[in-house]
Amino acid sequence: MYYIGVDLGTSALKTLLMDSEGKVVSIVSREYPLEFPHPGWSQQRPEDWKKAVFECIPELTQGIDRSKVAGLGVGGQMHGLVVLDENDEVIRPAILWNDGRTAKETDYLNNEIGKAQLSAWTGNIAFAGFTAPKLLWMRANEPENFKKIKKIMLPKDYIVYVLTGVHSTDVSDASGMLLMDVKNRRWSKPMLDLCGITEEQMPKLYESYEPVGTLKPGAAKALGLPAGVVVCAGAGDNAAAAVGTGTVGEGRCNISIGTSGTVFISSCNFRVDSHNALHAFAHADGTYHLMGCMLSAGSCSKWWMDDILGSSDYASLESPITDDKLGRSHVYFLPYLMGERSPHNDPAARGTLIGMTMDTTRADMTQAVLEGVAFGIRDSVEVAKSLGISIPRSKICGGGAKSPLWRKMFANILNIEIDTIASEEGPGLGGAMLAAVACGEYKNVEEIAAKMVKVKKTIVPDPEIAARYEEQYQKFVSIYPTVKPLFPKIG
Ligand code: XUL
Repeated sequence: MYYIGVDLGTSALKTLLMDSEGKVVSIVSREYPLEFPHPGWSQQRPEDWKKAVFECIPELTQGIDRSKVAGLGVGGQMHGLVVLDENDEVIRPAILWNDGRTAKETDYLNNEIGKAQLSAWTGNIAFAGFTAPKLLWMRANEPENFKKIKKIMLPKDYIVYVLTGVHSTDVSDASGMLLMDVKNRRWSKPMLDLCGITEEQMPKLYESYEPVGTLKPGAAKALGLPAGVVVCAGAGDNAAAAVGTGTVGEGRCNISIGTSGTVFISSCNFRVDSHNALHAFAHADGTYHLMGCMLSAGSCSKWWMDDILGSSDYASLESPITDDKLGRSHVYFLPYLMGERSPHNDPAARGTLIGMTMDTTRADMTQAVLEGVAFGIRDSVEVAKSLGISIPRSKICGGGAKSPLWRKMFANILNIEIDTIASEEGPGLGGAMLAAVACGEYKNVEEIAAKMVKVKKTIVPDPEIAARYEEQYQKFVSIYPTVKPLFPKIG
């Protein structure tokens, strides 16, 4: 049988076809636009996602016996607010996970309702990208739109709704709404009340690997697939990527370098750190995880190379950065192009290049951009370590994992072994694997991960480079607190 995994990303939709043994048969993707209507705001049109799905899947399944497609699972960008009216029309563009417009609402939640209360209700505190502050923003700034809301959902749930007609979500993605009692895997009534919404407006909660329905006849016809294809609830992209890299069970780690950068630590039990510095979310395998999220990771290298240097030949731009240069630069980059979530929770933070001299080259600055992201990932790893969590090694996935130089930087800056697996398509593969479990081909997520995920290569840190980076990291951590007071002033 075949399974389709859909990764509803921020820069593109990536679809993947997997067979029962876990072999990736084909991959098809489509890019779509991202709107920045104000500095720090970030929106997308759900209709663009839908169009991409209906374009990609027929192409993906060309040349196979389509009657053998059994299931489909979506892993999607998290936290985005999608709202539909009583005619199932999208009311306004989706407000995305990296949108920073809700600073006021986030402050209200954390300071007036209080972090302790929020954490007691949901296991988390408010961050600007989370869904609940967006609802408060919409109620205050677009009251007419707010009144029209019939259904609230997350980005991937919109795709599942279009395909099946079922208004569903899964526990991993719903954890990032700040509307869910994560520990007990149910909606939080006090949080819904606080945002002025009802449970009827919310999707039904499922485990990620549970089937929610089958393709609607019209959708099946348009996709060229049998109507019996089972669609599972799917997962937030990070939980889906964790499934795709075998980061399930106790104490495993995955680093994902897509538009965002995340550190994902799986945990059999629910736990929260005393400062709520890491997100305490449900996992797609039925357990829990802790996560740190940088808002700009792969997007920093894309911005620097495509937009500023005007070249998409990343390998050539990276080639002058040889081993002897690693850990020896005096140029630093704070990767806060969209503000920052983990660990600073500061929507006003901005990208900063510092330390240039007359002999600084283009390659030195490219190096600083890549290292700045790796130092930012280390910030979240340090929070995890301060909770007593040991991270001796990690998997890596996402577009950024394709760069051998960047992978080497991660291994040496974090001073841990980094495993790459055969497919870098974490969320898409995870979505297909969840669909295979939903169809009963595998007993559970742990079983399919053990069977399918194989480490391809391990990058071992070099003690000399790691020692140089250790010194540099200590300098990096002193830059943000020093420049922080400037950000609100420079706007
Ligand atoms: C996670 C987060 C991002 C998005 C990007 O909390 O906001 O990783 O899911 O796709």
